[in-house]
Amino acid sequence: MTKIAHELAAAIRSIPDYPKPGIIFRDITTLLGDARAFRRAIDELVQPYAGLKIDKIAGMEARGFILGGAVAHQLSAGFAPIRKKGKLPHETVRIAYSLEYGVDEMEIHMDAVKPGEKVILVDDLIATGGTAVGAVQLLRQIGADVVSACFVIDLPELGGRKKLEALGVEVRTLVEFE
Ligand code: PRP
Ligand code: ADE
Repeated sequence: MTKIAHELAAAIRSIPDYPKPGIIFRDITTLLGDARAFRRAIDELVQPYAGLKIDKIAGMEARGFILGGAVAHQLSAGFAPIRKKGKLPHETVRIAYSLEYGVDEMEIHMDAVKPGEKVILVDDLIATGGTAVGAVQLLRQIGADVVSACFVIDLPELGGRKKLEALGVEVRTLVEFE
């Protein structure tokens, strides 16, 4: 691991058996509360995209909103929220998905992205990839060009990164946990 990856990993708290027995929950609230680590994480997420003309960041509720909002600001891009079902007031597309510890449905406004716009997906963590794959499918349904997806944390044993790459999406992550 790089020095920065070590620093970020040290700022992330691990909680065994949350929200279900057998899951080690990687809690980014400690990283968010550490001003230096939060800035480092955002700087590292943004750096590969500097100079690219990115139209929008798409972020998944809820942790993807915190990181995605900061990344959008740094890249002078707009922000497209992907929300859990029933929260968006205008016309939406919806998809069911599964994640490491459950199933749910998420939605995006039909007009959140214009056809052909370049979008980067941002979230705190990729595990099974269920959430991110669902998000890419939603974005493509409304015509987005999903150029990349980035996450602070990768849980490589759960295979999410490979699923996203198989869809033709570049994946960038900062820290791996087994
Ligand atoms: C977490 C995390 C990712 C997703 C990753 O979100 O923030 O979005 O799980 O898991 P996956 O790769 O197996 O799909 P969660 O649904 O717990 O929502 P939250 O951000 O509202 O806590
Ligand atoms: N989302 C899916 N799996 C997770 C984990 N192990 N920790 C935190 N968020 C998650």
